[in-house]
Amino acid sequence: MRVAVFSTKPYDEASLQKANGGAHELVLLEPRLNHDTAALAEGCEAVCAFVNDDLGAATLAALASRGVRFVALRSAGFNHVDLRVAAELGIAVARVPDYSPYAVAEHCAALVLALNRKTHRAYNRVREHNFSLSGLLGFDLHGRTVGVVGTGKIGQCFVRIMAGFGCRVLAYDPYPSEAAVAAGAVYVSIEELLAASDIVSLHCPLTPETHHLIDCERIALMRPGVMLVNTSRGALVETAAVIEGLKSGRIGYLGLDVYEEEAELFFEDLSDQLIGDDLFDRLSAFPNVLITGHQAFFTAEAIEAIAATTIGNLAAFAAGGEGLHPVSVEAN
Ligand code: NAI
Repeated sequence: MRVAVFSTKPYDEASLQKANGGAHELVLLEPRLNHDTAALAEGCEAVCAFVNDDLGAATLAALASRGVRFVALRSAGFNHVDLRVAAELGIAVARVPDYSPYAVAEHCAALVLALNRKTHRAYNRVREHNFSLSGLLGFDLHGRTVGVVGTGKIGQCFVRIMAGFGCRVLAYDPYPSEAAVAAGAVYVSIEELLAASDIVSLHCPLTPETHHLIDCERIALMRPGVMLVNTSRGALVETAAVIEGLKSGRIGYLGLDVYEEEAELFFEDLSDQLIGDDLFDRLSAFPNVLITGHQAFFTAEAIEAIAATTIGNLAAFAAGGEGLHPVSVEAN
């Protein structure tokens, strides 16, 4: 099968070619997929896409008109695909449901630790031979309350990690998990979680219901000085609202691996450009904000697993569908 692989970086190329072993003809393309770049998939039966590719109605129609019948996502999240339109156009969609929940949960813990102990600031100070500790005061995680919103695969790993630090873990999920309870989580309402947690971490998918889950009203429910961490999807958090929360001190620490408008920024070296995103620049100017560019998934194990499942999905589609990890309209 001929497959147009969008948004590829050198690390994708290496892992995909290794997993593919020559089975499919992979057309590796650097551009992001959108309505304008869909023409690059001419002559391909399938496309392979990443998190910031645009798989809205217009792109899907452009792909379908060029004979594309299958979309293999190299991600777990599928909020960027119009599944209803895909179904109408007869395009099947598959994803990588789980590759390494540890990768994301561990990166989330890294953000918590760095924000608490201000490691990002300490690193810069010591490089300048400034060994002063003023302003670097942290707190013991042991005994603190951590609120985990979404206890699926990644949320459960994060529960285990934070329980290991001796934290009290509260959880909110419309579908509670026995594994999270076994790991020490206590399920409460989202309001109770926000009111009682020193650290709030988001691990739910982006859906119409969770869009701007953290807005002004929810921030007002949080403990003064709370640490908020989002490693899931940018639009779970209303950026303007968290900026106000940071300015008022209600939010004491903010850790982000994802950002509402990241599609125009992340995964690229823009260091010699003006980025023209005032909200992002405002956020990154706070000393108590730590942002990484959607790298939580980025471990050797995860990259290998993503490539293996993606190639497996292509093989399964080519063979009639058995073994596919499909995403359907109902899943949304
Ligand atoms: P999962 O599907 O295993 O778990 C998601 C959980 O969220 C489920 O238990 C579900 O019931 C729950 N949920 C749904 N609606 C909710 C709501 N309104 N409030 C609270 N919980 C709700 O997904 P997984 O693998 O744990 O991934 C979670 C999210 O992490 C993904 O949707 C994706 O957006 C993000 N992610 C981020 C990565 C990164 O590199 N930063 C990499 C991989 C995933």
